Parts: sequence; C-alpha cells; structure tokens
Amino acid sequence: MALHDENVVWHDHPVSREDREGQHGHQGAVLWFTGLSGSGKSTVAGALEQVLHRLGASTYLLDGDNVRHGLCRDLGFSDDDRRENIRRVGEVAKLMVDAGLLVLTAFISPHRAERDMVREMLGEGRFIEVFVDTPLAICEARDPKGLYKKARAGELRNFTGIDSVYEAPERADLHLNGEQLVTHLTAQILDLLRQRDIIKP
Ligand code: ADX
Repeated sequence: MALHDENVVWHDHPVSREDREGQHGHQGAVLWFTGLSGSGKSTVAGALEQVLHRLGASTYLLDGDNVRHGLCRDLGFSDDDRRENIRRVGEVAKLMVDAGLLVLTAFISPHRAERDMVREMLGEGRFIEVFVDTPLAICEARDPKGLYKKARAGELRNFTGIDSVYEAPERADLHLNGEQLVTHLTAQILDLLRQRDIIKP
C-alpha cells in the first residue's frame, strides 16, 4: 500500500530544523560511509563519533550490522533487499537530520543509484559521501567476521566483492585511503566538516 496520496498532507510544526540546529550549535547532516565489508567504515565512523561527541555535537551512528537486527531484520542481501535497506536508512537519516543531528551511517551501500537516491532525499550539502577505499585483498585478509572465508568456500551467497557488485563512488565528497591510521582519517573528515561550516572551527 502506498500512502503518498492526496489525502495525506505534510504538516509543518512550529519548531523548525533551524531552531533545533541553533540549540545543537551545528548543522544537521549525514556522513554516509560506503565501502566493502571490512573496509573500516564502522571503525572510522565510531572513532569520528567519539571525537564529535567530545566536541559537544549531537550525533547518532546508524550501522548496517546493527540496523539489520531491528529496522531491517526482514531483509537479506539480494539487490532488491539492499536497495530497500538503503531506502529505509536514508529515510531514518533524513528524519535525524531534520532533528538537527550529525548522523553517521556505515553501510556497504554497493549501488551508486541508491547512494544518489539518498543524496537527492537529503538535499545537496546535507549528504556527505565518504568512500572508505580499502582494496578487496586487504578486506579479505582482515576478514574480521570470517565472512570472506565462508563466501570463498561457497557457504555464503551474494557476498559483496566476491559474487555481488560494489560500485565505487565517482563523486564522493571525501575519498579516504582505508589503509591509513584511523586518527588520520578522522582528522580529514573533521577538516571537511569545518570547511563546510557544518561544525564550528
Ligand atoms: S548493504 O549492502 O545492504 O549496504 P549492510 O551494510 O547493511 O549491507 O550489511 C553488511 C554487513 O552484513 C557486512 O558487514 C557483513 O557483516 C554482513 N553480511 C552478511 N551477508 C553479507 C553479504 N552477502 N554481503 C555483504 N555483507 C554481508
């Protein structure tokens, strides 16, 4: 059932996003981390959230592995399910940005079209695509959850980078070398947030 018919009308409330942003002391935006499984998305996003939190920012980290235990527990890893996963997360991130939060998301989000869809939903300037670029061989050597091993053994189907596609970003706002130190990577992201006036210097 689609609910976007003429009988459902958007309601504007008296407290605006700008009001909420004023209270937080920074803009609402989403830092969208994308990359292979094991590339370091969650690690970098977690370290960055810690730094932002210490700076007094209001943050929230949405992580693929966690969201798939609740909001997206009914979804698997077919192309359609991944698309729906990203659509839902995009909608949640949009609400959180409207709440004035700095949202960090860590999802493989392998398809360019879905990432562009979320960019459109959020609006230019509110969606910051961060590509954690770590070669497949390195991710596979790290294999923190033993999933690459299972995929190579044919025990896990549709595994990104093995028998499922990963489309690298062509216009990421930030292209990180996932083999560098986490502190170096978080510093680069903080610089960008300051340059764009999302957080204060
Ligand atoms: S996404 O493609 O829909 O964006 P998401 O980031 O939510 O993926 O989930 C990826 C995580 O699920 C991986 O880090 C890994 O731990 C686990 N996983 C389980 N099966 C797969 C699979 N077939 N492909 C990729 N990741 C998988």
